[in-house]
This record gives sequence, C-alpha cells and structure tokens, in this order.
Amino acid sequence: NFHAVIPAGGSGTRLWPVSRTARPKFLHDILGTGSTLLQSTWERTVGLAAPQRTWVVTGRGHVDAVREQLPDLLSDRVVAEPSPKDSAAAIGLATMLIHREDPDAVIGSFSADHSITNTGEFLSVVEQAAAAAAATGDIVTIGITPTYPATSYGYIETGDLLRIPDAPTARRAAAFVEKPDAATARTYAYSGGYRWNAGMFIMRAAVLLELLEEQAPALHAGLTRIVDAWHTPDRDAVQSEVWPTLGKKAIDYVVAEPAAAAGRVIVVPGDFGWDDVGDFDSVAKLRQPVPGEVHGVSAIGEGVDVVDVESRGVVISETGRLVALVGVEDLVVVDTDDAVLVTSRAYAQQVKEVVARVREAG
Ligand code: GDD
Ligand code: MG
Repeated sequence: NFHAVIPAGGSGTRLWPVSRTARPKFLHDILGTGSTLLQSTWERTVGLAAPQRTWVVTGRGHVDAVREQLPDLLSDRVVAEPSPKDSAAAIGLATMLIHREDPDAVIGSFSADHSITNTGEFLSVVEQAAAAAAATGDIVTIGITPTYPATSYGYIETGDLLRIPDAPTARRAAAFVEKPDAATARTYAYSGGYRWNAGMFIMRAAVLLELLEEQAPALHAGLTRIVDAWHTPDRDAVQSEVWPTLGKKAIDYVVAEPAAAAGRVIVVPGDFGWDDVGDFDSVAKLRQPVPGEVHGVSAIGEGVDVVDVESRGVVISETGRLVALVGVEDLVVVDTDDAVLVTSRAYAQQVKEVVARVREAG
C-alpha cells in the first residue's frame, strides 16, 4: 500500500533562461541524460510503486506536458492545481485523495528536480524509510551527508538510533531547520551532527493529514472541501474557488519543523549520489568533463556545436547555434531562442536576480 507522490511545481528561477514559468525545470533534460528531471524521477519511483499508486501534482498549465512526458502515468493520477501554492498544498491534496481511497496508505513524496546516481541504494534507503513509517506514527525523512554550508536546504539534527526492524539505520531527528542563514549553516554543515534533508517525506497518509490539521487548520479545511467535491461535477468550480484562499507554504515549515520539535520526525541516512539540481553550478558539476578528455567544456543540448580554446565551463544550447569559448574559466553560457545568459559557476546562485528584474520590468 505504498503510494508515490511527485510534486512538480516551483519556478526554478536560478536555472533561467532554460527554466521558465511556462516550462519549469522539471520538464527539461537539463543534465543532458536523455530524460527530463521529471522522467528521471518517474523512472526511480516505478521501483517503489506501480502506476496505479503513483501521483503527480502539477499546475493546470503543465498537465499536458506532464502526460506527454510520462506515457505510463494514469489519467486520474494527475492532480492539477490552479496556481502554485507551494509544497504543503500540493502534497496535502494528493495525500488526502490517496487517504480517501486507501486509509492505510503509506506515502512517499519525491521532488521532481533531483539527480540521483545510485538508484539501487536510493530504493533500499526508501524501503527502510517506508518500514519506519509503517511501524510508527512519525514523519520519516532521508538525510544526506552535507558537503558544504548550503543555505537552500533543510538540516536535520540526528539523534538516537531507534532499532526499528527493517529500518536498522533509522534515527530520531532531534531537530529540523529549514534553510538556515549562512552562519548557522556553517555550524551545522561542519558539526557532524546534522544532515541535509533530501526533500523526500515518507509517512502514513493519515499521519500527514493529522499534522496538517494541527499545524495548518485552514489549509486542511480548504483541501477537505476540494476533495469532498473531487469525484463530482463540481470539482473544477470548487477547486477554483477554494485554491486561491490557501496559504502558500512549504511542507518543511508547516509540517517537518513543528513535527521534529514534537519528537515525531525520523531520519534514515542515505548517500546515493544525490544532488538538488538547483543552479548551473550543480549542472556543471554533474556534467564534469570526463578525466582525460581534451575538451574542458561540457555541452548540453540537441545538436549543440561548441568550439573551445583553452576554456573550462558548461554550454547549454537550445538553438544549435555555434558557441565558441576562448581562454575563459568556469563559465556558464546558456543560449535559448529569446535570451542568452553568461555567468560564472561561482555566481550561479544569483541568476534568480535576473528573473526578479525581468519581472519588475514587466
Ligand atoms: N505541484 C507543486 N506546486 N509542486 C511544488 C510547488 C507548487 O506550488 N512548489 C514546489 N513544488 C515541488 C517542487 O517541484 C519540488 O519537487 C518540491 O516541491 C520541493 O520544492 P522546492 O521549491 O524545490 O524546494 P526546495 O528545493 O527549496 O527545498 C526542499 O528540497 C530541499 C532538497 O532539494 C526542502 O524540502 C529542503 O528541506 C530540502 O533540503
Ligand atoms: Mg528543490
């Protein structure tokens, strides 16, 4: 009775101009693997749940693209939302729909925008997490060993070993801190006592709904109204009326932080080549030229044509235009039909400021 939920929304503004409102990052093959980030997520979760038990929550405007990219996704497993209301609303809605069908369901939510290199290890860690979720009334997270003081992740303080059968490495989470400031992130990342939250939550559907009702009663009540009308002709009308009134909050703040404070979060350590493909620096890292390769520039895109003369960096092209790099280090060049981005790997986080300015300019 394990269900997989894939929330596919968010804007991915640090990956502009590839990631756009009309076509966000999860719909792109941004790593040049031959699969989009969403398709790679699906390819991993089929090992955990059959299509009958796999749900994708996405914006109304992305439903067609999602169906096109995932031909095995069942039509009543695509949950459309009228506007982005962040992950608590998206995951909450799918969870409530699942709970109505199967009150004993255990669900796992998996971000649509990650890269994982060791799928076998990923599956075995999630199986432990599912066992821990079934054995307790807690929220189970997956904790990645931090490698730098990231401020764009959640941190989980690891506590005592729980000795749960079938989940031998599961520990109590002593605290959950979403996106700490830089100074706090430094203490956490180097202390050895914290792990990064992998952005996956595994728990009984009933447990998530109980915590949502407790921590965000208005959100829970709104979702209940929508789900009550889901299998009636009023579905779209009710959802269109209620959805704009819902708060825009991430599940990390609404559920994970308070649940950890109440001693109800478990962490299963997992290291499976995980990366949140958040900006072009991580794209460049994941596409490092193979050692010994003469060219220092990774090229991503169909028919991309790159000439590099003593340069290092990454070129992403959606146009097939010839791009030449001469004597530059660690550059990121992104060429699309209507915009060109040139930055360096060190400044990749600040790309989102371009999007803010372009929006301001209308
Ligand atoms: N349907 C839908 N609607 N999905 C959404 C929405 C929305 O409005 N907003 C976000 N999502 C989806 C994203 O597509 C992604 O799959 C997931 O929810 C997480 O959202 P992000 O916006 O990518 O979160 P984050 O990366 O800032 O932080 C989360 O992930 C980190 C690891 O990547 C947190 O869980 C952190 O604690 C974690 O470390
Ligand atoms: Mg993310």
